[in-house]
Amino acid sequence: MKIILGVSASVAAYKAAELARLLIAEGADVTSVMTPNATKLVDPRLFDAVTGRPTITDLFARESAFAHLETARGADAFAVAPATANVLAKLAAGIADDALTTVALAVECGRLVAPAMNPKMWDKAEVQRNVSTLRELGYVVVPPEEGTTACGDVGYGRLADVHVIAEDVLRLAYPGPGLTGRTVVVTAGPTREPFDAVRILTNPSSGLMGFEVARRAARRRADVILISAAPGHPTALGHAVRLRRVDTAAEMFEATAEAFEKADALVMAAAVSDYRFDEQRAHKIKKTKGKISTTLVPTVDILSEITKIKRDKLVVGFAAETDNLVENAKDKLLKKGADIIVGNVVGRADVGFGRADAEAVIVTGEGVEELGKISKAALAERVIDELERWWGGVR
Ligand code: CTP
Repeated sequence: MKIILGVSASVAAYKAAELARLLIAEGADVTSVMTPNATKLVDPRLFDAVTGRPTITDLFARESAFAHLETARGADAFAVAPATANVLAKLAAGIADDALTTVALAVECGRLVAPAMNPKMWDKAEVQRNVSTLRELGYVVVPPEEGTTACGDVGYGRLADVHVIAEDVLRLAYPGPGLTGRTVVVTAGPTREPFDAVRILTNPSSGLMGFEVARRAARRRADVILISAAPGHPTALGHAVRLRRVDTAAEMFEATAEAFEKADALVMAAAVSDYRFDEQRAHKIKKTKGKISTTLVPTVDILSEITKIKRDKLVVGFAAETDNLVENAKDKLLKKGADIIVGNVVGRADVGFGRADAEAVIVTGEGVEELGKISKAALAERVIDELERWWGGVR
């Protein structure tokens, strides 16, 4: 995967080195192109070192008269981060007066800009007009975030989180249609069933597995709806992932059923509580010396309910098991009516809930694939491979 990273003269220019590092960590070859002003803020040798390639700052300094074409050739994505108001204007107008803007016209791949500037500048009609023009030209725009900018002004203008930009760039650069045109619903995290105003029934799931599936589906060009009960935000998500937060199994069921109507697939990675309190008190129950007892009642089995209405849609479930992984995963495939069950070990210190790794098997109607110990990131890739294979007509 070849990515051209344009860097222009915003105070956030130094963050582009971290963006380059993130992209390289995902296997990309990154070539940096800097505007002359950007080189006054950050030394191009920083980008030489991070990318392992010479940074392009001046097309005329090269031996070849066609340096802009050579740089552009074979690129899978062209991303400008940070993009100043000046660069946005030039790109929108098709002006090519330096290496960055010339390469922008020479590439044949998808293009992206991540603007960064003072909030007063970002709010200007001419800047917004240029951003609209870039969108019309097919650019992906990663909007700036709200917050305090380097100059102390508050508003929209800060460069988006580089982890988020990286996700959007990787999606743009993905070679091949992947899951283009598919909508995938993913659930993640532990549901929380209230006992009273301050106490809950939950489990130690972090939500990492579901988040990994969501972001990797988005990288392969799916539109993703992530329904999360996770307490935090375990991975960065690009803009192709719509995040919906829920707490209880009932809320997750409602959100999942609604999202599934417009979806092509569901990946049910959430650790849904099987029980909830029969009675939920709105106040905090006061401490007493004696025992208290309460009644738990079953929650809705979301996966089983969704498979009843799945028609030709694809449904992937997970199975969290302490024993007999393969047998229990096979049972759940039949019992829950899913197309694929990803069985994974829980209750061990090195894998499962709250860990980066899983010990997993993939069970389909065709058989069992034992994956052994595998990172959740790699397992998520395997799950997406299964979706692609399913829709690719192999099954
Ligand atoms: N699941 C669900 N709704 C529930 C419980 C589980 O949709 N109320 C889903 C999980 O998201 C997972 C699959 O069902 O995709 C299997 O979950 P798991 O906890 O392994 O199994 P359970 O159905 O809870 O059965 P058991 O606790 O007996 O293993």
